[in-house]
Amino acid sequence: MNNFISLENLNPELVLELIDDAICYKKKKAYPNLSNHYISNLFFENSTRTKLSFEMAEKKTGMEIIYFDAESSSIKKGETLYDTVKTLNSIGVECFVIRHIQDRFYEDLIHRLHIPIINAGDGCGDHPTQSLLDLVTIQEEFGSFKDLNITIVGDVVHSRVAHSDAKILQRLGAKINFATPEFWRDSRMTMGSYTSLDSVIKETDVVMLLRNQNERHTQTYDESHFLEQYGLTKERANKMKPSAIIMHPAPINRNIEIDEDLIESRQSRIFTQMTNGVFARIAVLNYVFNY
Ligand code: CP
Repeated sequence: MNNFISLENLNPELVLELIDDAICYKKKKAYPNLSNHYISNLFFENSTRTKLSFEMAEKKTGMEIIYFDAESSSIKKGETLYDTVKTLNSIGVECFVIRHIQDRFYEDLIHRLHIPIINAGDGCGDHPTQSLLDLVTIQEEFGSFKDLNITIVGDVVHSRVAHSDAKILQRLGAKINFATPEFWRDSRMTMGSYTSLDSVIKETDVVMLLRNQNERHTQTYDESHFLEQYGLTKERANKMKPSAIIMHPAPINRNIEIDEDLIESRQSRIFTQMTNGVFARIAVLNYVFNY
């Protein structure tokens, strides 16, 4: 059985295979059979999409879900993540989907336990299943990643989506630009170039917006002018190529990262991303148990 903690340790051919698997599940509505496997979703940060689309993927593959609620668990009495995972494994849970506030929370678990861990988001680190669903959405639209111009917009430094997506998209042949306020640039992101959305909007194939991660900011940021300075306004959207698409991992801060009239516009794939999340997560569950 495999862990799924980052796309960085997977070769591009395998990532392309997982994308194809997800698209195939979506088209054929036929899913791998993972019945008789027990899984728990451990979310220590809030989530709507990731948690519930994993649950949908687990139900579509026939898995047995052992429900866990961090608020009512013995974590509140001081039990560690390691002891929680070890305990659930002792009663029969075979695989864990975990979201945690701490970057690289999984290191201790994968070194000390031989139980598959799926990273559902670690702090400002990675969000590999979001990346996979983003890749599925781009592949469906363009059929390839080679030479696509992808502009990642907004709060890059705090975004695990930006980290995961930029690295894998570049490895798959896309060209990455970051359009972000100077104070949200990330020195860890050495690929691509920093620019303004205005200077690249006409050539961009994918406008990949990010959420302003207010819960991770150490200083309060006045967002009242963010949309007109950095976000996707209707004026900027009018300059997009007809074939270009708008993406956002959501949740969305309406009229801050994007004008709300654009959220369900012709070029938006934001809700398609959410649909694809279920099929991408089925591909991940199949990878964990069957590859
Ligand atoms: N995109 C995403 O991870 O959404 P949730 O925080 O709702 O899971």
